[in-house]
Amino acid sequence: MTQPQKGICAEPNLHAQYLMFNVIDDDAQVIRAKLAHILNVFEHYDEEHYEAMVSGIIAVGNSYWTDLYPGLIPLELAPFPDMECEDRHAPATPCDLFIQIRADRADVCFAIGNEVCELLKGHVELFEEVKGFRYLDGRDLIGFVDGTENPKGMHKRVVAVVGDSDPDFAGGSYIHIQRYRTQMERWQRLPVKSQEDIIGRTKETNVEYASEDKPAFSHVKRSNVKGADGKSIEILRQSMPYGDMTVKGLFFISLANSPKPFTQMLSSMVFGDENGVYDRLLDFTVPETGAAFFAPSLTFIKANKD
Ligand code: HEM
Repeated sequence: MTQPQKGICAEPNLHAQYLMFNVIDDDAQVIRAKLAHILNVFEHYDEEHYEAMVSGIIAVGNSYWTDLYPGLIPLELAPFPDMECEDRHAPATPCDLFIQIRADRADVCFAIGNEVCELLKGHVELFEEVKGFRYLDGRDLIGFVDGTENPKGMHKRVVAVVGDSDPDFAGGSYIHIQRYRTQMERWQRLPVKSQEDIIGRTKETNVEYASEDKPAFSHVKRSNVKGADGKSIEILRQSMPYGDMTVKGLFFISLANSPKPFTQMLSSMVFGDENGVYDRLLDFTVPETGAAFFAPSLTFIKANKD
């Protein structure tokens, strides 16, 4: 039985450290061995600080995948879907390796991040790092609870993890990341009712609007996309707020058993419905990065370390 990486279906944490690397070493064998070693680092900290609920994800960028594991390609591996419509742009900013570290202690995230960087030193360049944090009662910085309609319990695995349809890659997960920057002052100038209409839920009490009351431009309407069978398609979101007193936003993370659900949702948000009605949240929060990855199973990383 292939085992997904621990961070794929883990419960939300208080802190996250996101590390984005490009690989500068041609020796793929060294990197494969280092990735297996990083799994040991995650495990070590999890055992030493069990109360911190440590979990990690190692994800390999779509364009670096074939250099790292030649001859073995996940069936649906695809580039990030760069999208542009009117003044809305979801850019693709590819990245070779994405390491997500999460824990309920910021110091533990920091310590793990340090060890990961030490291990990869000389082989990669770290071109971006972002710290995510839980804000109030699980809200994003626009003040709405985020993650309410996420899949729960055993259903998370069905949504986020590749099954028997691709036996070589069972236990893996397709990951998309986007760093959104929010125009906080413009958002805060909106009356609460207008903010609620844009999300499609109430702000303070987090109650879903009745179906007939959800505007076509609301975020929940645009991100709720139906498949051919009429059922809503799903992703597992692990997004967390990031920022400081100057720059603020959401580090958006989607995990799924295929890259298609994320692509369809983003397309519905950016291009809109048949009348061109797009997601009005995009008028207030703008994606500055976008990258696609595959996070292979623990079993795969360990079996391919030599
Ligand atoms: C729902 C925030 C981007 C997919 C929600 C909700 C909030 C939210 C507050 C309602 C509560 C919940 O169910 O979680 C945001 C913010 C974003 C963002 C602030 C960007 C800065 C995205 C993107 C996607 C997405 C890029 C997918 C491509 C979804 C889905 C839901 C959702 C599938 C559940 C919809 C439903 O009720 O069925 N988001 N989101 N979100 N979001 Fe986002």
